[in-house]
Amino acid sequence: MAGSTLDRAREGLRALAGLAPSPVLEARLQRAAGLLPALPSEPRLEDAHWAALLDATTVQETQLFRSPAQLALIEARLPPLLLQARDAERPLRLLSAGCSTGEEAFSLAAIGLHLVHSLAPGARIEVVGVDVSRPALHSAAQGVIGPHLGAPLASVPAHHRPWLVDAGGQPRLHPSLRATLRFERASLLDLPQGLGGFDVILCRNVLIYMDDQARRQVLTELADRLRPGGMLALGATDAAPGGTLRPAGHAVYAHG
Ligand SMILES: C[S@@+](CC[C@H](N)C(=O)[O-])C[C@H]1O[C@@H](n2cnc3c(N)ncnc32)[C@H](O)[C@@H]1O
Repeated sequence: MAGSTLDRAREGLRALAGLAPSPVLEARLQRAAGLLPALPSEPRLEDAHWAALLDATTVQETQLFRSPAQLALIEARLPPLLLQARDAERPLRLLSAGCSTGEEAFSLAAIGLHLVHSLAPGARIEVVGVDVSRPALHSAAQGVIGPHLGAPLASVPAHHRPWLVDAGGQPRLHPSLRATLRFERASLLDLPQGLGGFDVILCRNVLIYMDDQARRQVLTELADRLRPGGMLALGATDAAPGGTLRPAGHAVYAHG
């Protein structure tokens, strides 16, 4: 493959999604070689050729209730935020930043709905998933629960199963859970202003694929979108975001 074509692809992926050079990225670029000659010189998220390259080079592994101890900590700290949102007559807003096929957003919605029903009747939740991958977002919007990392239901706590499992024991989203979900295609490097602020943001297993500059940019952007008292959850190996966010355990950082 011509070096200049490859370099243009690497540079474009870095500009659009912050993707850092890595053996995984190189292997995926080799597999996607047929897409490279048609790439326009200016990388744009909306361009069909660049979109196809992002689809081919991003890593989509995910699972329901991935990192369950971290999600349990978030669930334990969520009630005051939910009650505060209800008192303010607004929905509690949760963001899955780099949502892949939606399982992280489905898990957040199950946690939120369980708390609404058990502690805060009348409260509302809204879960937004953002990603750059078109096939992943298509699957998320269809509400498909994929097998991905092994058995899809393995980590789902018993009290959340009613939202995620049908009467026959098969993975399936409850209609009231689906009603809380919204998915949007955007890069975390350039989130639309209209996306608004959030009480909880999960950005897990996403920053590991980015270079330092992109990581810093994404963390600044996400911290700015956290509402007072909100929580940001990162991947286990991600560096702490610093600033006004304080570590609360399990790579969860609390605002204020
Ligand atoms: C490994 S998956 C992680 C999914 C989920 N957060 C989890 O932990 O299970 C990484 C996802 O991040 C997305 N992604 C990578 N860079 C992105 C960017 N700059 N903006 C939005 N999504 C991005 C990829 O398309 C992929 O779906």
